[in-house]
Amino acid sequence: MRLLTVTTAALLLFTHTGQADTAPIDSRQVVELNKEQQAFVLDHMKSMLETISTIQSDLAQGQAELVAQRVKALKTNEHQNKPRGLGKSFPKGFRAMSQQMNQHWEVLLKPTTDDKKIQQELHLILNQCNACHRSYQLKR
Ligand code: HEC
Repeated sequence: MRLLTVTTAALLLFTHTGQADTAPIDSRQVVELNKEQQAFVLDHMKSMLETISTIQSDLAQGQAELVAQRVKALKTNEHQNKPRGLGKSFPKGFRAMSQQMNQHWEVLLKPTTDDKKIQQELHLILNQCNACHRSYQLKR
């Protein structure tokens, strides 16, 4: 009887760990870029995150008027470093999400002291960041 209990326990344990090994499936679509394009995209991602952080700090200090120039700096850096024809290398859906996000960055290029408007645009931008991160990954 005792042996049976131990065997059952071992079996249960085995089945259980077997289940725990099942990793979640990554269903994100893979985007294939060349090395130069990939380096630019990842660098630009980090620059966007840093810009958002800087903007949050500007807003916390009541300096909404600085926001437009933060976004201008981000855009200038993007235009100077973006590899030629990058957009054409993106899958359609990826490009569409990127364009939707850019429309909201464009709004922030226009100087304003309206905190609430800036916060709203930032929220819309972040929604695009999140949606794209859930849908795509870069090929490594
Ligand atoms: C059009 C799609 C898309 C949009 C929009 C997007 N990202 Fe990304 N981002 C990606 C992909 C794809 C990766 C690589 C993820 C992977 O391969 O696992 C990435 C990676 C990153 C990384 C990691 C960079 C690194 O060096 O590893 C950061 C940080 C990031 N994104 C920030 C942002 C922020 C902030 C926004 C919005 C302002 C944003 N991204 C918008 C697609 C997007």
